Amino acid sequence: MIVPRILSTGLYVPPTVLTNDELATRIDTSDEWIFSHTGIHARRIASDDQATSDLAVAAGRQALERAGLDPLALDLVLLATSTPDYLGFPSTASIVQNSLGAVNAGAMDLTAACTGFVYALETARAFIAAGTSRYVLVIGAEVFSRILDWNDRNTCILFGDGAGAVLVGPADGPAFFAPSLLRSDGSGAASLLRPAGGTRQPVAQSPSDLAVRMDGRKVYSFAITVVKDIILEILEKNDLTLDQVDWVVPHQANVRIVASAAQRLGLPLEKFYLNMERYANTSGATIPLALSEMDQSGLLKRGQVVVTVGFGAGLTWGANLFRW
Ligand code: COA
Repeated sequence: MIVPRILSTGLYVPPTVLTNDELATRIDTSDEWIFSHTGIHARRIASDDQATSDLAVAAGRQALERAGLDPLALDLVLLATSTPDYLGFPSTASIVQNSLGAVNAGAMDLTAACTGFVYALETARAFIAAGTSRYVLVIGAEVFSRILDWNDRNTCILFGDGAGAVLVGPADGPAFFAPSLLRSDGSGAASLLRPAGGTRQPVAQSPSDLAVRMDGRKVYSFAITVVKDIILEILEKNDLTLDQVDWVVPHQANVRIVASAAQRLGLPLEKFYLNMERYANTSGATIPLALSEMDQSGLLKRGQVVVTVGFGAGLTWGANLFRW
């Protein structure tokens, strides 16, 4: 069987920075409250003329260039996003595929909210392991700033815009990429959703019906449990122990969620890569953005054992496990 490996990474964040202090001039909040409750100081905001595909193309192109791979060699472009350019169709992945000149590739969006990248990376792994595809570009990209109610201090402080990408292909030497764990519990759908704009409620009664609505406490309790459990489960399934893990790359929603999981696992927080302080929660983009920063700064070294953990709306959660 072909063993897949992440061959390269790419990232793009819009240049405009929105700090907590700037937010505090518009709504009743403060840098002190936001940072102490979430670990977030700032987020990036896409310019008016940027859509999700623009961020995705920039990140995807960088991953291809860093690998020196011709876009013509791509078999598949997978885009994890909950903020597509258009509602339903065309897929944002098709727009990205065209902009990259990946004329031999299929393309599809994958929606699993903040777990989307974990699902998409597993799809790439499975397609390559099965021999269906050779090179798959997996991108997580979001423009969450467009779907927030900027008057709702419970939600608007949490999210930001950005994109990350990984190129997955056959390993040219010894490699390890375990089957991922993908989970869902739709009974929790109401705790994090956009009420209107879909077939359930096509017409919004008020503009805020089109924005993110969240029961923060419920999501928090769900997250601290599943992050710990899924890390232990994927390690156990692959006969690995916590001390053999070099890096946990968690979804960057809230540092308190990560710290709680670290404490329950008895792992030092230093094993968890964190960048929500600068970017906030970019949903499907947080994990590939983190992997790209770690790769490009030299933190990630070939052979290291990496676990990624995603969680979010659906409710969904999941984990990938591989050697870098
Ligand atoms: N600034 C200042 N005060 C705020 C505030 C803000 N941005 N948001 C809420 N508050 C206030 C509340 O109104 C409340 O005041 P009250 O006690 O007078 O009613 C108080 O702070 C506590 O609110 P609460 O909602 O209980 O805070 P919390 O400690 O649960 O933190 C979250 C709120 C959203 C940070 C936290 O629940 C969380 O992170 N949940 C998970 C969310 C998440 O990560 N979602 C994405 C998952 S993919």
